[in-house]
Amino acid sequence: MATNVIETTNLTKKFGKFLAVDSLDLQVPKGGIYGFLGPNGAGKSTTIRMLLGLMKETGGQVHIFGKSIKEERLEILKRVGSMVETPSYYGHLSAYENLEVTRKILGIEKKEINRVLEIVKLTDVQNKVVKKFSLGMKQRLGIAQALLGSPELLILDEPTNGLDPSGIIEMRELIKSLPEKYGMTVLLSSHILSEIELMATHVGIINKGQLLFQGTMDELRAKQKAEIALEVEPQAVVEDYLNEIGIPYKKDDHYFYLNANYQPSRINRELIMNGFEVHQVLVKKHSLEEIFLSMTTGKGEIIQ
Ligand SMILES: Nc1ncnc2c1ncn2[C@@H]1O[C@H](COP(=O)(O)OP(=O)(O)OP(=O)(O)O)[C@@H](O)[C@H]1O
Ligand SMILES: [Mg+2]
Repeated sequence: MATNVIETTNLTKKFGKFLAVDSLDLQVPKGGIYGFLGPNGAGKSTTIRMLLGLMKETGGQVHIFGKSIKEERLEILKRVGSMVETPSYYGHLSAYENLEVTRKILGIEKKEINRVLEIVKLTDVQNKVVKKFSLGMKQRLGIAQALLGSPELLILDEPTNGLDPSGIIEMRELIKSLPEKYGMTVLLSSHILSEIELMATHVGIINKGQLLFQGTMDELRAKQKAEIALEVEPQAVVEDYLNEIGIPYKKDDHYFYLNANYQPSRINRELIMNGFEVHQVLVKKHSLEEIFLSMTTGKGEIIQ
C-alpha cells in the first residue's frame, strides 16, 4: 500500500461566514509530484498555510508523515521545505546572507548554501542585496531556501510565478528531478493545468474551496471523453429522427453532438440511408483544459 506523506481529513477554513476551504480530504503519496490546481481564489494558499500550521484551521485535521501538525509541528517542519505565495527574505541582506540565516536555524553545513545557489542558478549574484533582485530572482531565492537541508517534503505555492519562459522550463526540470534524485515528495500549486500536466504524477483540483477531482494524471486523462460531431441536414428533421430512435444529442448552429459510444460509421450510414445529407462526421476529444474549465466553472461533477 502506498503511504501518504500528506493526509487531510475534512480540512476546513472559514473567514467569518465565508467558506474558503470546504472539507478537504487530500492524499499526497510518497515520492509523488502532486499538482494542486485551481483558479484564483480557489483556496490553494489557504490550504497550504494550514498544511504548514501557519494558519489555524476552522475544522478537520492535517497529518504529515503520519503525525498531526497540531501536536508535532516543529518535528514535522524540520523535514519540510516550503515557499508560500511571495517568498520571505531580508531585502537589505544578500542572497547568500539570507540563506545563511535559514542555514543557521536549520543547523546544517555551510556548503549546503553553495549547493542550493547552484541549483537555482543564483551563484553569480549571491552577493547582491535582495531588494535589488527581480521578481524571478526572488522566486529562485525562495526555492533555494525551501531546498536547504534536502527536505523530505517540498511544498511550493505557485513556484513558477514571475519566472521567464526559460526559467519556467528550468524550474519544471528541477522539480521533476527531485523525487528520483533525493527521494522527495513535492506538492506544488498552480492555476495553469498545462503546467501541472508537464510535471505532476498526481493532481487535486480545487474550486471555491471544494475538491472536485483527486487522482493520478492518468485518471484525469481518462476523463477526456470523446464525442461525435455531425454536420447534417436538414437540421429540424434530423432532430425529429434522433428523438424518434432515442439517441441523445446536444446541438449548436453547426453540429449535432453524440456520445462517442455510438459508432461514427454506423451513424453515418443510417443517416444517409434515411435520406439525410451528411457533410461531416468528426470525432472530437475534449482537451484536459476543457475538462478543467468545465469542472471549475461549476458544471463539473464532484468526484473524489
Ligand atoms: N486572511 C483572509 N481573510 C479573508 N479572506 C481571505 C483571507 N485569505 C484568503 N481569503 C479568501 O479566501 C479565498 C481563497 O484564497 P486563497 O488565497 O487561498 O486562494 P488561491 O487559490 O491561493 O488563489 P490565487 O491563485 O489567486 O493565489 C479567496 O476568496 C480569498 O479572498
Ligand atoms: Mg494563492
